[in-house]
Amino acid sequence: MSLIPTAGDHLQGSWSTHLDVPSPCDVELSGRSVVHQPHRSPGDSVEQLDALAELVLGPAEQADWLALPASTRRRRQWLVGRLAAKDAVRQLLPDARGRALHPREVKILKGRRGGPEATVEDPSVGGPHILVSIAHIDHVAVAIACADRRAQGIGIDVERFRTDRVIERFGLSESERRSLDGLAARARADHVARMWCAKEAVSKALGTGLFPLGGPSALTVERLDEWGARLRVHVAESPEYGARWFEAATARNGDVVLATAVARCRGDE
Ligand SMILES: CC(C)(COP(=O)(O)OP(=O)(O)OC[C@H]1O[C@@H](n2cnc3c(N)ncnc32)[C@H](O)[C@@H]1OP(=O)(O)O)[C@@H](O)C(=O)NCCC(=O)NCCS
Repeated sequence: MSLIPTAGDHLQGSWSTHLDVPSPCDVELSGRSVVHQPHRSPGDSVEQLDALAELVLGPAEQADWLALPASTRRRRQWLVGRLAAKDAVRQLLPDARGRALHPREVKILKGRRGGPEATVEDPSVGGPHILVSIAHIDHVAVAIACADRRAQGIGIDVERFRTDRVIERFGLSESERRSLDGLAARARADHVARMWCAKEAVSKALGTGLFPLGGPSALTVERLDEWGARLRVHVAESPEYGARWFEAATARNGDVVLATAVARCRGDE
């Protein structure tokens, strides 16, 4: 358990962190979730979001904040994702005196391909190699951070558990679906959610997102245990990325499903 306060702590009752983020391999990951519960407090108004943005965002991030679409839902989602990412970095990299960095000292900007890029103002705490990944669903945002040089990319995804078969039909190949034959309906839905989440997490670890890779069929998921907690994800060969595989870890907390993945440096796979 970390003693580092979360970036949203000052909005008492409105933000909390409580999801365990699974870690796929021996690379050190720091994970953070920020859960927004608007039914408990009015932490949802445009004014409150603006106040929070002013408190936690640096100047370049403020410019991104101002450029976001007007939709309150999107602005809230973006901001809560930034809070989770800043918290994940702050958890990973206390400053030289062991003090938690201020959220504004952790800068999260959008990279060339849409993924988040993190830097900290004091280079002594982390140098340039800090990786972050963000995901959100409705009122939940999750993020992971990593400062391990063996990692080339990291990815996280979060999904709401669902029992219909839309994701299964859309996101899994025939052979992936066949690998689930014989499971009871609920167990099958659980595995589908984990496998889909793992594909999304790997696509983020690659820095592309899913569709530039060729969509869900460009990734093939194999379960490494009977629960689907550890998965191996193969990426179809392409001129840019080459053939490779990733290990992903998944967890389910109630109706929230999470996956993380790490892209190792070549030669370290
Ligand atoms: C990047 C991608 C994986 C995002 O997935 P998503 O489910 O739309 O959204 P998530 O909440 O999981 O992730 C969004 C975050 O991913 C990050 N992201 C965006 N592009 C990225 C990229 N190229 N690499 C790494 N991360 C990226 C961003 O931080 C973004 O949040 P932000 O814009 O608030 O900063 C997208 O490429 C994708 O494939 N979406 C598929 C969604 C889909 O088809 N759903 C249908 C289900 S039936």
